[in-house]
Amino acid sequence: TRPLIIDTDPGIDDAAAIALLVDDPSVDIKLIASVSGNVGVGHTTNNALKLLTFLGRRIPVARGAAAPLMRANRFATEAHGKSGMGAFVFPEPDQSLLTESNAIMEERRVLMDSEEPVSILTLGPLTNIALLLATFPEVKEHIDRIVMMGGSTGRGNIGVYGEFNISVDPEAAKMVFRSGLPITMVGLDIGRKAHLVVEDLDALEASGEVGGMIGALFRSYDGGHIEEGIKMYDPSAALALVEPDLFELRPAFVDVEISSPLTMGATVVDYDGIINDAKNTDVCVDVNVDRFRKTFVDRVCAVRRK
Ligand code: BDR
Ligand code: CA
Repeated sequence: TRPLIIDTDPGIDDAAAIALLVDDPSVDIKLIASVSGNVGVGHTTNNALKLLTFLGRRIPVARGAAAPLMRANRFATEAHGKSGMGAFVFPEPDQSLLTESNAIMEERRVLMDSEEPVSILTLGPLTNIALLLATFPEVKEHIDRIVMMGGSTGRGNIGVYGEFNISVDPEAAKMVFRSGLPITMVGLDIGRKAHLVVEDLDALEASGEVGGMIGALFRSYDGGHIEEGIKMYDPSAALALVEPDLFELRPAFVDVEISSPLTMGATVVDYDGIINDAKNTDVCVDVNVDRFRKTFVDRVCAVRRK
């Protein structure tokens, strides 16, 4: 089993990504770090605690950055609701899961204490990871790989070319892409292709309490506009970590636009060496949708509350 840190802004699809991994025998989730993103960090922290309390999994939760490095917060309440995961009534969160120190200190601790290299799965803006790498560069040696939901090889969602996680904190994302660490990028185009349909939610809801919770959250996703397919952004990154055979990867040099108002936050994906920089990222370029859907439903249906 590989040690794993999940850095996240739950968020409906973040919650699903975490549910996909809690019982995976190939990873050992050492820490869930919250970050400001879909909603403020008070909400994302509380949502992580609520989810783990509901699942009955004792994974420490550390509260992370409250705002991007240089810019004002931009939330995604139209997709995730006012509190980020409000469409399901969770039990009161078990506050004993919350760590005393903040996400950056806790991420450092997990990394430095680990005998094996640790994987990091990022499902939100990259603020915590940029701060971590800048403050404690010695942690780099302990990081196996960053698997990231972020960016796009084509069009964006909060800009024409800007994807949310990258565009909310483009400077942080740029620091991470330039860190020299191995990165797997799972972008918007993959999450759009790897969609569930409403019948998949029916199957989840028929399976029991955990499937019921994930189904209820997704019914309210995107303001309830789910008839045309339910986008699987963060779950794609989670499965790219543990089921890489579902995806096709292609190496590229990736960098982030931080100065043009028109293309702010765009991930520039150079497969062909046009920019003449060394390749720094394995970019996810395709997903087997049928196998993805089946894997998602089977995994979530098998999770039981503890
Ligand atoms: C990303 O933005 C968030 O709203 C989702 O949780 C996902 O991480 C997609 O752009
Ligand atoms: Ca997210």
